[in-house]
Amino acid sequence: MQPVLQLKNVKKTIGRKEIIKGITFDVFPGEVFGFLGPNGAGKTTTIRMLVGLMSITDGEVIIKGTDIAKNFEKAVANIGGIVENPEMYKFLTGYQNLVHYGRMVNGVTKERILEVTKLVGLEKRINEKVKTYSLGMRQRLGIAQALLHSPSILILDEPTNGLDPAGIREVRDYVRKLAREEGLAVIVSSHLLSEMEMMCDRIGIIQNGELVGVQKVTDFVGEDTRIRVQFQVGDVVKALSILSNEYSSLEINQTEKGFELMTDHDMIPQINASLVKNEIQVYGIVQLSKSLEDRFLEVTGGSGIE
Ligand SMILES: Nc1ncnc2c1ncn2[C@@H]1O[C@H](COP(=O)(O)OP(=O)(O)O)[C@@H](O)[C@H]1O
Ligand SMILES: [Mg+2]
Repeated sequence: MQPVLQLKNVKKTIGRKEIIKGITFDVFPGEVFGFLGPNGAGKTTTIRMLVGLMSITDGEVIIKGTDIAKNFEKAVANIGGIVENPEMYKFLTGYQNLVHYGRMVNGVTKERILEVTKLVGLEKRINEKVKTYSLGMRQRLGIAQALLHSPSILILDEPTNGLDPAGIREVRDYVRKLAREEGLAVIVSSHLLSEMEMMCDRIGIIQNGELVGVQKVTDFVGEDTRIRVQFQVGDVVKALSILSNEYSSLEINQTEKGFELMTDHDMIPQINASLVKNEIQVYGIVQLSKSLEDRFLEVTGGSGIE
């Protein structure tokens, strides 16, 4: 499948400060891609470049095969986005707001307005004034507005900020539905891991303007929490024979001073104990890769998981 959005080493410098330090990732049709990172990490700045609100200092953004720097209008026509809180006229109805925004876009018909209203589940309330809407409904009206011109990519910057749990759930359900049923690629940002887990297919963690990891949520919340670990030992041959006997499913690779293996974090002490029990000298145990959760804890200083 072709990616609908590609970022290739995208950078942003403001004044002398490099705010985005070279970000690369792809997003595919029908997936919800989460952009996760603490406040100040660079989520909004990246998103502003994607929707054309800010120039790109270096690198490429390719939207449905079109380079945003070479053919801005064609590229950006594929994107619908809400960057700041959607500004709605509270004394107009939801429908009147959509008509108003529809006038700014070519070819928005009454049918399209009713279609987007249905997509976000507002058909029963669309003729009521926005001031009577809950925050979750306002956010959904914002999403409807962003969908008016039939984009292939929907970009939402912290769409659940300020919402109560019911509102968060509403937005999450509609985001998932749009990706699944309409084949939209959705990019959502957040600083909450728990929220991203429920909404996204893949999560990219951003820290200090750098993407420190991209991972499928199924890998992450599923069973596969394995990490790569290196052991330095005295008698490598003996160690390998002991471990392959005791743990037949372990994939072990011999290295210069020992071996490397992929294992669950919880297994490390057990493997070490087996070696020691068999009188193998263990000189060092080094964790080579980190799980997404490890990285996220680092990014947030341990305080971000709620
Ligand atoms: N216009 C600007 N001028 C200078 N610094 C900026 C500007 N916009 C954002 N920044 C800085 O860039 C960093 C990333 O900000 P932002 O993209 O808003 O992060 P996030 O959305 O992840 O919270 C922050 O350190 C912020 O202070
Ligand atoms: Mg932000």
